[in-house]
Amino acid sequence: MESSCDETAAAVINQDRQVLSSIVATQHDLHERFGGVVPEIASRAHVERILPVIDEALRQAGATLDQVGAIAVATNPGLVGSLLVGLTAAKTLSMVLGVPLLAVNHIEAHLYACQIAARRNAFPAVGLVVSGGHTNLYDCTSPVDFELLGSTTDDAAGEAFDKVAQVLGLEYPGGPLIEQVARNGSPTAIAFPRTFLNEARLDFSFSGLKTAVLYAARGTPGARVQPPPLTTQRIADIAASFQAAVVDVLVGKCEQAVDRTGRSTLLVGGGVAANGCFRKALEELADRKQIDLIIAPREYCTDNAAMGAIGWELWERGRFAPLDIDVTPGLVRMRAKLSPA
Ligand code: KG4
Ligand code: ZN
Repeated sequence: MESSCDETAAAVINQDRQVLSSIVATQHDLHERFGGVVPEIASRAHVERILPVIDEALRQAGATLDQVGAIAVATNPGLVGSLLVGLTAAKTLSMVLGVPLLAVNHIEAHLYACQIAARRNAFPAVGLVVSGGHTNLYDCTSPVDFELLGSTTDDAAGEAFDKVAQVLGLEYPGGPLIEQVARNGSPTAIAFPRTFLNEARLDFSFSGLKTAVLYAARGTPGARVQPPPLTTQRIADIAASFQAAVVDVLVGKCEQAVDRTGRSTLLVGGGVAANGCFRKALEELADRKQIDLIIAPREYCTDNAAMGAIGWELWERGRFAPLDIDVTPGLVRMRAKLSPA
């Protein structure tokens, strides 16, 4: 089960990591007019949807509750009220059915979406999770043992897509719409900043880029020269140039992380990994560096419960969660490397 943000999701997965069903009830229509997720609205919607979503996941898998051997649920990180809905449902089922409860880290799960797609072992690897809430680079020794290499110092990449979309008058979530509009624009029309790209640190920053987009769209405060009017073409050019700047930075940091760790596999997951321009640039990087690239399949990039297949990894390691476990909204439990491989 997955309810960390604005998607209510449930999936049925067998021990071979085959996804028998994956149901996602999105709440985009409820949050659209606010230009972002409103936590209270999100948790109320999860309460309404979680049981029908679980029911539908079982129905589509042709499974019954008594066949369920374990319950995996995202408990960290996310919105506290939203996470609580999934966890409460999961604890109840675990107790009633007498099966183990598995506490899934949502960030680790985003990278496990790559493992679901791969017909080979995806770990160890460098992993980039690039979503609405996170832009994190990891050295992953196993599916559930990560060392953080770098992360964003301000906005997440997906958040930047959403905020830039708002500036350009596009709807929420902005990522897919920016990608669509950018197809008619020039990625070199405006030279937007690529923060930290030429620095050794493996961190990201997108707030300067966001401000640069704001100025390109509405003008720099106090400046005599006004920017061109925000025509359809100008919007497309800003979108394409913004997207190119984000992609350059994300791909550049992946390359640096691969060089630094010596890993030969690169995993990329999270909502922004659905972006076609980004996927293409990653493939070019993989060709050039001769590395094994596994990008999460598009349907498992944005939030879903199929990536909760990582629960079987916890199960196999005996990492069961106690029934008094609580949600942890802030990012925790990213274990450091235990010993050199
Ligand atoms: O992983 P996700 O569903 O939720 C979080 O865990 O945050 O990611 C959602 C984010 C949103 O910011 C959305 O705008 C972005 O992923 N996104 C995209 C695309 N599809 C979704 N960004 C760029 N291009 C896309 N095609
Ligand atoms: Zn997510």
